[in-house]
Amino acid sequence: MRDLSSELLAWYDVHAREMPWRISPADRQAGVLPDPYGVWMSEIMLQQTTVAAVRDYHRKFMGLWPTVRDLAAAEDADVMAAWAGLGYYARARNLLKCARAVVADWDGIFPDSYDELLKLPGIGPYTAAAVAAIAFDRPETVVDGNVERVMARLHDIHAPLPGSKAELTAKAKELTPQNRPGDYAQAVMDLGATICTPRSPACGICPWRDPCAARVAGTAAELPKKTPKKKTPTRFGIVYVARRTDGAWLLETRPEKGLLGGMLGWPGSDWGDEPEEAPPFEADWQLLQEEARHTFTHFHLRLNIMIAHADLDTQPLRGQFLTPDAFSPTALPTAMRKVFDLAHMTLRHI
Ligand code: ADE
Repeated sequence: MRDLSSELLAWYDVHAREMPWRISPADRQAGVLPDPYGVWMSEIMLQQTTVAAVRDYHRKFMGLWPTVRDLAAAEDADVMAAWAGLGYYARARNLLKCARAVVADWDGIFPDSYDELLKLPGIGPYTAAAVAAIAFDRPETVVDGNVERVMARLHDIHAPLPGSKAELTAKAKELTPQNRPGDYAQAVMDLGATICTPRSPACGICPWRDPCAARVAGTAAELPKKTPKKKTPTRFGIVYVARRTDGAWLLETRPEKGLLGGMLGWPGSDWGDEPEEAPPFEADWQLLQEEARHTFTHFHLRLNIMIAHADLDTQPLRGQFLTPDAFSPTALPTAMRKVFDLAHMTLRHI
């Protein structure tokens, strides 16, 4: 039988993508293992986010908090502000929880097995397998969207996702080698990201070209099949952007639970079909012509923006005024940043 994993590893030796947290295949084979803290952080950041977007954030986090002890000792608000723009903010809250658990329960040293990693906050089966394989060279099988696509094509599996997930995972397990499992895990993901791409796979240069059943059948580009999703609904909301005479903005930290939890944002209504007005203080609120639009995983959001000036003695019902030295718009999650971008020009000029 041909040795598919060795063939893929030979391809990876030449074509591995460079990433800030990654050890090159040559260095790994010389015995160098990556810093588990950096690998763990990269895997948390990479969930639902592209490698291109993660590079800079990973550098920034490793610069600000070079060890898990540094991160565990960080202020929550500083970590949330540094995460702003990456999305899925529960990941940032869990990042902190996990760092603190590693320090409290493991003396700052990441456990090196799937089972122990899985017990840590914010680490699910995917991340536990990825960290065990990549940081500790454990023969765990890492299955993300890239790997599912590669397996569906290699075996020409037409059953749709998510129902076919177990079958695709089983296929991925069969191929996971005892030799170099960390490089292998990254190799399948790189193959999916660079050659076995969703729309026009570059089968001509694929190291698994010959054994690929979908290439032979001519079905590669239509796999994996997916069960059609329901149409994405739209929710509506109202936000209130107030600027005080001294340049301070009225902001609030959103509740831990729920969307954008723990992040800074503008006070406003709940989001739904018919949001109720909820001004944080009485003023001559003006509706901005443009609304802010943002798409989350499960819905589109359209925010009406109300703007007003506030006096120095304004006592808001919610939130607090942050002066420019205490607030940077880069600390806002993207939806709230869009609101700021639309509102602040107008507020500076009226
Ligand atoms: N996507 C998520 N983790 C990855 C990794 N370690 N290498 C390549 N792509 C990835």
